[in-house]
Amino acid sequence: MAPQETVILRLRSVGMRYAAGSEVLHDIDLTLKAASFHFLVGPSGAGKTSLLRVISLSAPISRGSITLFGRDIARIDEIERARLRRRIGVVFQDFRLLDHLTAFDNVALPLRINRVEEETVARLVSDLMGWIGLGDLTELPPPRLSTGECQLVAIARAVITRPRLLLADEPLSNLDTRRAERLMYLFTALNRQGTAVLLATHSNDLLQRYRFPVLEMTEGRLNSGTLSCPLAAAD
Ligand SMILES: Nc1ncnc2c1ncn2[C@@H]1O[C@H](COP(=O)(O)OP(=O)(O)OP(=O)(O)O)[C@@H](O)[C@H]1O
Ligand SMILES: [Mg+2]
Repeated sequence: MAPQETVILRLRSVGMRYAAGSEVLHDIDLTLKAASFHFLVGPSGAGKTSLLRVISLSAPISRGSITLFGRDIARIDEIERARLRRRIGVVFQDFRLLDHLTAFDNVALPLRINRVEEETVARLVSDLMGWIGLGDLTELPPPRLSTGECQLVAIARAVITRPRLLLADEPLSNLDTRRAERLMYLFTALNRQGTAVLLATHSNDLLQRYRFPVLEMTEGRLNSGTLSCPLAAAD
């Protein structure tokens, strides 16, 4: 089977609720293949972040099933879950950086968890942060960075391991146009090298400029099928 045909994620009839609240995701069916790229759109409160949490195994589902990298997540132990999670890069909508670490150490964290040797960590992190434009800020902790700079650190941390699956929750929302374009270049380059990307966005501009298929959510449901960009026909 060609690598692009490999299914890396399958959700079947997934429902999800927060604690004792009512269900916020309903009957989600979703299949993602290796090296695919999808935008995830929908109004605020539609469930995009909740869906990304479920996929990254950071929130439990209340019904249905998830198969991630060929493993049914209901049938694996904590060690295996942690192993699968390490293959996913996540850019959280609220960044979730560690304030007591420097920007450098935040980005280095996933490599160190993977026990990459320090010399390699130093090289990979410096190269990436330099390319992204954070080269002068490596020693500062997140509270001393601007919101956009924190977003860049969060992106760098998510991609530093070249994950097989990248989940990016409005990753460009605080960036200027030039930076956003540079980061889209990074995402598409990773994607060409085999990373599947699922990118939640409110930006019609992004949908228009990059013609990746669009998954649309409304009120906790994933509308079946993918839309090609609805705006694409307008130009
Ligand atoms: N931690 C939480 N506890 C309880 N309910 C939550 C929590 N987070 C989100 N929700 C609810 O889940 C629903 C989906 O929210 P979610 O954050 O997934 O939407 P979203 O599509 O990501 O929105 P946005 O575009 O504003 O980021 C909303 O009704 C929201 O109120
Ligand atoms: Mg959200």
